[in-house]
Amino acid sequence: VQIIRLSTVHPALVHFTIGALPFIVIGYGMAARGRSERWTFAADAALVVTAALTVATVAFGLVSNAIVPWPGGLALWRWLHLGLGAASAAALLVFAAVRLRRRQRLPTSGGASFGGAVAVAILVGVAAWIGGEVLVFQSGIAVRAAGEGALAPLATRPRTPTNLRDAMDRLRAAWAASESTMSEMIVHSPGGDDFAAIARDARQMNELAQWIGVEGPTFLRNPGRPSEHHHEDRESEDLPMTAGEHLAMMARELGAQTAELERAAGARDVTRAARALAEVQAECVDCHSEMRWPARATPAMGSARPIEPGVLGQQF
Ligand code: HEC
Repeated sequence: VQIIRLSTVHPALVHFTIGALPFIVIGYGMAARGRSERWTFAADAALVVTAALTVATVAFGLVSNAIVPWPGGLALWRWLHLGLGAASAAALLVFAAVRLRRRQRLPTSGGASFGGAVAVAILVGVAAWIGGEVLVFQSGIAVRAAGEGALAPLATRPRTPTNLRDAMDRLRAAWAASESTMSEMIVHSPGGDDFAAIARDARQMNELAQWIGVEGPTFLRNPGRPSEHHHEDRESEDLPMTAGEHLAMMARELGAQTAELERAAGARDVTRAARALAEVQAECVDCHSEMRWPARATPAMGSARPIEPGVLGQQF
């Protein structure tokens, strides 16, 4: 474990800039209200120190920008963050320079300085929101666990999916988590925690499979159209099936496989769990190849679209 990485200096330093801003805003606010020399001095001092530290923040921001591996699809946010970050530092420097000059003539500051402080705070706030919320929280940029396929459960969402795509996103998360755990178990020795995690993910996938079986068809554009299916199984080959029934059938298969995965994990049987997980994956492939991928060519299921990699850094 590294104590600190070069790319972590920037997100550490931003706290100085962000942390000092309320003080600067309140300082100039109080100074303007009471024409107070003391508040003016306090705000000016905070501003000058913050401007200087922000230069370091931006310098390390450029370092992070250069060394962090950027996935596709994030270019807009990446350059917006860089541009607004640089603009914030420039604004702080100009503001500080103006204040230092004004101080020499007048020991108190007024409404203009307060307005300037609020404007700079908004600029920094937007840059920080992009950095913290979009780049780190949503996309996991420079977050090691995210890059390794995070094992942490998703930040909470309501229990029932809102639509088929949402159900798929959740399925992906639980599936990816169990894949990570399984890889870990295969390489190192499997522990009780690993089995418990796989059993939990399997149960979640199972609940989702049940939801997909019941609600999924309503999200197909044309669930009543006939669906060709390529299962070698028995009499079902002769039965004409609608797309909705087909989706429900494959969801039931996924339900059976995830239930088996949960049982195998409960029995602490790695080999059996590995086989069950492989079956789960094969079901993802089967269903996607029959219900999802051909939809690119057939407009009948217009809601399906190919995965866009990295919309917000999603990698599976
Ligand atoms: C019962 C059929 C079926 C099974 C089984 C299935 N999928 Fe899907 N999946 C679909 C369909 C249909 C879509 C397209 C949905 C849409 O775009 O509205 C889709 C789309 C997706 C998407 C894209 C979601 C998005 O935001 O665009 C992901 C990710 C995904 N599936 C992951 C998985 C994983 C992982 C598995 C296996 C654990 C799996 N799916 C199993 C039918 C299935």
